[in-house]
Amino acid sequence: MKYTVITGASSGIGYETALAFAARGKNLILAARRTEELEKLKSAVAGMNPELDVVIRTVDLSVATDVYSFYDSLSDYRIETWINNAGSGSFASVGEQNLDKVTTMLHLNIEALTILTSLYARDYAGVEGTQLINVTSGGGYQLVGNSVAYCATKFYVSAFTVGIAQELKGKGAAIQVKVLAPSATVT
Ligand SMILES: NC(=O)c1ccc[n+]([C@@H]2O[C@H](COP(=O)([O-])OP(=O)(O)OC[C@H]3O[C@@H](n4cnc5c(N)ncnc54)[C@H](OP(=O)(O)O)[C@@H]3O)[C@@H](O)[C@H]2O)c1
Repeated sequence: MKYTVITGASSGIGYETALAFAARGKNLILAARRTEELEKLKSAVAGMNPELDVVIRTVDLSVATDVYSFYDSLSDYRIETWINNAGSGSFASVGEQNLDKVTTMLHLNIEALTILTSLYARDYAGVEGTQLINVTSGGGYQLVGNSVAYCATKFYVSAFTVGIAQELKGKGAAIQVKVLAPSATVT
């Protein structure tokens, strides 16, 4: 059985992405901190297609050691698609930012995404039919006032993902590496 991993599946774009993959008959591995929301999503998927397997992982991806154990916990699954969607924002001008929130954002948007991208590419680059999708933002291409730190994390996601895609393509790797860059979306 093949699986699609979606981080940040408990709400918003990740939640809807899970439903969209389920509608295409994909088994899912759903990750976020809020188990209850993931359970609701699992029930919604079961209502759509009871044949699908849905695995839930409760994890705080802003903690690097937990990111590694999350990845390791999936070693028995064949992962066809990996989607790094989990992300947070911090919206305030420099000097007025909540630095706890900013550092958590840096860990989640940059560190966790880098670790998970690197591990998935290490294990699946040569596997035909696999894909990695990193969720950046319109703000990953153009800076927006009062969210410079958030935009900078998304510039990183855009650049890192395109760089990885070019590197792997240059090596003739089978995996497809993609960025999804939503503009402002009500979530
Ligand atoms: N909405 C927009 O306008 C927009 C535009 C461009 C890009 N994006 C990007 O799209 C992605 C999804 O955004 P969204 O709008 O759908 O946001 P959202 O509704 O707030 O969802 C964020 C998801 O990330 C998870 N998450 C947050 N912190 C986490 C952590 N420490 N560990 C694990 N999971 C965590 C949340 O789950 P838990 O709280 O349960 O952990 C939730 O499932 C983000 O990367 C965001 O930057 C959004």
